[in-house]
Amino acid sequence: MRNLHLIAVTTALLLTACTQGPESPRGFSLPEGDPQAGEAVFIAYQCLACHTMQGFEDTDTEQQLAKRVPLGGDVKTIKTYAELVTSVINPSHKIAPGFKRKGYTDEQGQSKMRNYNDVMTVTEMTNLVAFLQPKYNLKPFNRTNYPQYFP
Ligand code: HEC
Repeated sequence: MRNLHLIAVTTALLLTACTQGPESPRGFSLPEGDPQAGEAVFIAYQCLACHTMQGFEDTDTEQQLAKRVPLGGDVKTIKTYAELVTSVINPSHKIAPGFKRKGYTDEQGQSKMRNYNDVMTVTEMTNLVAFLQPKYNLKPFNRTNYPQYFP
């Protein structure tokens, strides 16, 4: 009984630690970005070397991944600004779902994404994220409509 109680308290602490601790995203907010300027950043930093995006054909950039990672398109949960900023400045924090396979991470499990932290300005980053975010379309799950029987 006592042990059970201890487990419950520890679990509760662990759960709140993620959402409330000093490392939680609570309070995070970006200044409004300019999507058009963000598009220029997207091209200038050659994101297309490793990514594809609908409406962007890349002819000049040398391809750096055997199979490029698609950005934008239909997603099942909304891509938040915080997630997109994290993807750009700390890509190994949470490798995009489905990209843990070989080819997208190195031997240490780190993302192969280029590190932009020492070259991209904060303004460029906010503009970039303002450009990226609307490229994702929220596609809710289709509910299964089970037949209903009325006796
Ligand atoms: C050298 C290759 C490379 C370059 C250049 C690169 N990326 Fe990536 N990127 C990756 C790889 C590999 C992944 C998948 C693994 C991961 O999540 O880190 C990824 C993942 C992402 C994701 C997360 C995708 C998702 O579905 O969650 C975003 C957003 C992203 N990149 C944005 C960018 C932007 C913006 C640029 C340009 C400023 C860029 N990347 C440049 C390799 C690259």
